[in-house]
Amino acid sequence: MNSASDSTELELAEPHLREVLSTVGLDVEYVRSEGNTLYRLDADGREIAVLDYAGGYGSLMFGHNHPALTARAKQLLDEGTPTHAQFSRHPYANRVATELNRIVHRELGDDEPYFAIFANSGAEAIEAAVKHAELDRGARAAALVDEIETHAAAVRETAASGTAVIAGGALARLGLDDSADGAHDVERLLAGIARHNAEQRSRPPLFLTLEGSFHGKLVGSVQLTHNAGYRTPFSSLAAQARFVPLDRPEELRKTVENERGTLLDPVIADGVVDVVEREYPVFCAFLVEPIQGEGGINVLSEAFAREIQEVCAAIDCPVVIDEIQCGMGRTGTFLASSAIGLKGDYYALAKSLGGGIAKSAVMLVREARYRREFELVHSSTFAKDSFSCHIALQVLGMLEAEDGRAYRIAAERGRALAGALTSVLGAFPTVLREVRGKGLMLGLDFADQADSPSPVLRELSAAGFLGYAIAGYLLREHRIRTFPTASAVNTLRFEPSLLLTDEEIGRLETALRDVCAVLREQDGNRLLPSAA
Ligand code: F0G
Repeated sequence: MNSASDSTELELAEPHLREVLSTVGLDVEYVRSEGNTLYRLDADGREIAVLDYAGGYGSLMFGHNHPALTARAKQLLDEGTPTHAQFSRHPYANRVATELNRIVHRELGDDEPYFAIFANSGAEAIEAAVKHAELDRGARAAALVDEIETHAAAVRETAASGTAVIAGGALARLGLDDSADGAHDVERLLAGIARHNAEQRSRPPLFLTLEGSFHGKLVGSVQLTHNAGYRTPFSSLAAQARFVPLDRPEELRKTVENERGTLLDPVIADGVVDVVEREYPVFCAFLVEPIQGEGGINVLSEAFAREIQEVCAAIDCPVVIDEIQCGMGRTGTFLASSAIGLKGDYYALAKSLGGGIAKSAVMLVREARYRREFELVHSSTFAKDSFSCHIALQVLGMLEAEDGRAYRIAAERGRALAGALTSVLGAFPTVLREVRGKGLMLGLDFADQADSPSPVLRELSAAGFLGYAIAGYLLREHRIRTFPTASAVNTLRFEPSLLLTDEEIGRLETALRDVCAVLREQDGNRLLPSAA
């Protein structure tokens, strides 16, 4: 038996998920793929083409199995490229990093180097960034503490010589009274400062990110992912984030004010001892997707991006830009963030970096933040390997070819696709709510059906399954594959490759008009697969 679709076979690989998929008709096995097409087999073993708008959740800028990429992959294998050569020189990784720097510098209009740490998946790149940011935060905190201890020693020395005077209000600020014994009061003041500082330093690091964010599902990154269902069962395992609503600068500033930390620093000038506040680095990093993917295709505004940048600069909190889904040219520029004037201390890239065939990811750290000792405490068996680096180089070459033709195509094809979605929106104003996104990263928001006269639609809506049922219908009736964004369940997302044709856009438009008509007629039963 060649096919894994034998229904008598015992399912051991996530059997529950398969059951869930089968309720809406999404449990299909694909046997081949090319361009924007996945193939499944019918009962007679004939291939049936399915038009793929899911695009590996944004991993397929060049489509499935692009011939230039598969040819390069075959060539690498034929040449016997040493995929496993850990702890040796990796000039191909350096070439990827150099090329990324060239592109990022062009888009940022800047020339500060970004150092590259490689990984194998998006969440891993995010966690590498988080670890690096924590190493850096720890080092900055330690330097501040050292400085404060040096000041405390100087104060003590002056006090011992009997010449120190405590500035008015300094004791009171720590809740201490003035005992009129100068040397004793200096000791009490320093002890109070030490207590306050120890308390501040015992606080765990905090992350800032946005409501609707998705940065991965590993132990650390899932705490930076807003969806409570994914996050809260694991809250005890890793540092926490504060989630700020999009486009609400006052909420951002309030959150920062509430959580901000200060250390007290005893200073002495002309024999007078005073206490000053120093910003303590409580915030480890601010993580931001320029366009939220899994959270519903929400575009960060230029104004809010500026706000984030300013607030982070004020508290010296590094900005980690998650370009894993929206980057790699999908929205018409290599970095989606460069188009809104947002500059990162860190960038995370994955998905399309692997050209749809390799599993690779990278995080970039700008020189001013970079801690080279990170390289000695972080590693991965698979990361930075020759195969995926050479594929990444090929991908970058294809993006940059002909003066960035790929970026222009992404923008143009994106406009054509958005035009079709907008036209369906116009035709079905009661069924659809909004088209969102940019370039080849678009979302179509369906109206909730919680008050539908159809019990089926009401139930699907209440269970958060409406989007999946719509996706199941499009697959069954129109051979089109798309999914809702898992954390905004009524939004279907469209992330096709650059190869998208007008005919493929037309097919989607026809299919969407059909499913919208089903919803307008409140024909819930038609949406579900007939009882199997
Ligand atoms: N960051 C973003 C913006 C993502 O979209 C994803 C994954 C990740 C990080 C994690 O990457 O899966 O390679 O570890 N997004 C998928 C989605 C799962 O549904 O959009 P990963």
